[in-house]
Amino acid sequence: MTDKIAYERHGDIAVLLLQNPPVNALSQEVRSGLMAGMDRAEADTGVKAVLIVGDGRAFIAGADIKEFGKTPLAPHLPDVCNLIEASPLLVVASMHGVSLGGGLEVALSAHYRIAQPEARVGLPEVHLGLIPGAGGTQRLPRITGVLAAIDMITSGRHVKAPEALSIGAIDKVAAGDPQAVGLDYANALLAQGAHRRPVSEMPAPEAIDWDEAYDAVLKKGRGQISPAQAVRAVQASVEMPFAEGLKAERQMFRELMQTDQRQGMIHAFFSERAVSNLPELKGIAPRPVEAVGVIGGGTMGAGIATAALLAGLRVTLIERDEAAAEAAKARIAGNLAGALKRGKITQETHDEMLGSALTMATDYGALKEADLVIEAVFEDMEVKKSVFRQLDEICKPGAVLATNTSYLDVNEIASSTSRPGDVIGLHFFSPAHVMKLLEVVVADQTSPEVVATGFALGKRMGKVSVRAGVCDGFIGNRILSTYRTAADHMILDGATPFQIDAALTGFGFAMGPYAVADLAGLDIGWAMRKRLAPTRDARERVGRYPDKLCEAGHFGQKTGKGFYIYEKGKRGGVPNPEVMTLIEAERAERGITPRGFTDEEIVRRYMAAMANEAAKVVGEGIARRPLDVDMVLLFGYGFPRYWGGPLKWADLVGLPALLSDIEHYAQEDDYFWQLAPLLQELVDEGRNFDDLNKEG
Ligand code: 3HC
Ligand code: NAI
Repeated sequence: MTDKIAYERHGDIAVLLLQNPPVNALSQEVRSGLMAGMDRAEADTGVKAVLIVGDGRAFIAGADIKEFGKTPLAPHLPDVCNLIEASPLLVVASMHGVSLGGGLEVALSAHYRIAQPEARVGLPEVHLGLIPGAGGTQRLPRITGVLAAIDMITSGRHVKAPEALSIGAIDKVAAGDPQAVGLDYANALLAQGAHRRPVSEMPAPEAIDWDEAYDAVLKKGRGQISPAQAVRAVQASVEMPFAEGLKAERQMFRELMQTDQRQGMIHAFFSERAVSNLPELKGIAPRPVEAVGVIGGGTMGAGIATAALLAGLRVTLIERDEAAAEAAKARIAGNLAGALKRGKITQETHDEMLGSALTMATDYGALKEADLVIEAVFEDMEVKKSVFRQLDEICKPGAVLATNTSYLDVNEIASSTSRPGDVIGLHFFSPAHVMKLLEVVVADQTSPEVVATGFALGKRMGKVSVRAGVCDGFIGNRILSTYRTAADHMILDGATPFQIDAALTGFGFAMGPYAVADLAGLDIGWAMRKRLAPTRDARERVGRYPDKLCEAGHFGQKTGKGFYIYEKGKRGGVPNPEVMTLIEAERAERGITPRGFTDEEIVRRYMAAMANEAAKVVGEGIARRPLDVDMVLLFGYGFPRYWGGPLKWADLVGLPALLSDIEHYAQEDDYFWQLAPLLQELVDEGRNFDDLNKEG
């Protein structure tokens, strides 16, 4: 036995209590402890049943992810599961909290499963670039049938106990102390003379059209391989004897363990948790926030107000006049109606949010009691400064004053107040009540308490919050400007926007850059180009054709036409032929003979530009660690999770290869392709970005 498993005897029943906080992950010690516990129970005279139960907040959250990528140590989980199932004793699992991955696989190798009503079960291995590797793909379909098993395994979703009961994944739901409930159940089973019930001996489930299922899952996963591979593993449960199916599953699991996608997904898993964990905020208490003010109720302000209401905060929204306030309220109501429809809130909460929790006003005096105010007015420095001057006059001492600016200098905004220590950037992404990313922009004088308050607010709203320093566009929009420019250059040189979008969705992006531009509004880039034009370096290549689209009133989706043409009621658009006419005219004007680009070259250049700028952002301290940039791209820009982020991608392709690409591109345009000093440094030292993450 190891000290990770406590052995207790309760009458005829031996209890194996897992004690591996925080979530009873199946580390090597836990696996060997479980085996030793089973042996001890079998040798313990008079024991008729074994109850497996978890201590603390969960039954078992799965294999210990920290062991992945290292040499696997015996005993291996499939052997532990087989040993549990083969026991001559009656084995019962009592589940509470989560039973995920290997945790559910342990439960599936027990003969009976009971769970608390609020317990959740799932096989989320696909989210780590894997498939279940300890019999989950073989045992689950034997109990639930193929379709329910494929749904659970390929989605990786957490299934609540009542649903798990309805599909047969568990046998009983009962509330109470997990150990007491499990003991009652085991005693009742013994009293009824219940028999052992090994799932592996159950008949194989019925076949489906495997190729059709495989293709559908592959398409849905945008290039992610593990969910599709899971379909093949379930297929093995139908077509092979149990032991053979188990071997096939293990083989696929091992192969997936070697993939870049597995590395990318696990990087994302740990980075998502590490990103909001800032050493400098240890011991710093955030200021209490209950009443939030929002200034401006346009796209962003209404979204931010919705996010705050959904987080249970009171909101006062200031607009310019009654009509604008009414329009803002209608936007919030629309957002909340969506949340109600999707079952995120009850009718009662919905009514409360739109009623007593929300105040609309046109007078800044309404913000006297606000603990935190977020400004989301037009992207114009003078307008923002005048708003902050008024806030400075009205807001109570200690109120946090935040701006949602996309690009403007937060230091300059802070300097328009008498309390720059209270000023911070809270950069939400559109739609603000849906998108998970929040950039917490820390200006020169922002106090640590105010930073901690920004992170606490992000957490309360369920956001992934990332610390960013002040620069044009902070982390995300600065990098976006650069990779968009790389794409724009390829268009001048011969690629089409439509080919670029297709190549990048092929790489795994949710949308290509031109479809994104249409969605965000082409006027945003137009305004920025105009703002930057006076200080622009003569060597910068900037296409003029998008300005022409804007001059003609085409701003993308909101006007029905941009790079694509959008028809009402239809999802997505079709390429706008006028765009190619404008591009061809500009190429002719510039004397460019267009050349062809392969999809591979498009991806390579686009990613090189992204990673190079990301390395500059880290090198300049705008982002604290490479993983911070990775999370910004993942949660704000539709970057494919299975690549982990641009700097994880760079590590995976290899930094020397990336550097040599950039040097090659710089031969054509040494102004745009200026190498990030940090990239050169890492290559010289034979290190990579993940080494910097580990340094913290
Ligand atoms: N292995 C190692 N550490 C784990 C872990 C795991 N399986 N699951 C969670 N942790 C760690 C987290 O990293 C975190 O550590 P930290 O405090 O040092 O940051 C801590 O446990 C608490 O986790 P969260 O902060 O995520 O706590 P939550 O309460 O928000 O969520 C959870 C708990 C739902 C269990 C969530 O952590 C989770 O989804 N974990 C991953 C579950 C999973 O993917 N399991 C499958 C593993 S693969 C497998 O089992 C293969 C098998 O088929 C062979
Ligand atoms: P918008 O034009 O949709 O909304 C701005 C709103 O502010 C309007 O409703 C206007 O009536 C109101 N307003 C203007 N001046 C005001 C004042 N003095 N007092 C009260 N209300 C005032 O603009 P949008 O898109 O919501 O952007 C707002 C801010 O958020 C900008 O700084 C923008 O850069 C930033 N942002 C925008 C994102 C987007 O995707 N649209 C994403 C992230 C940030």
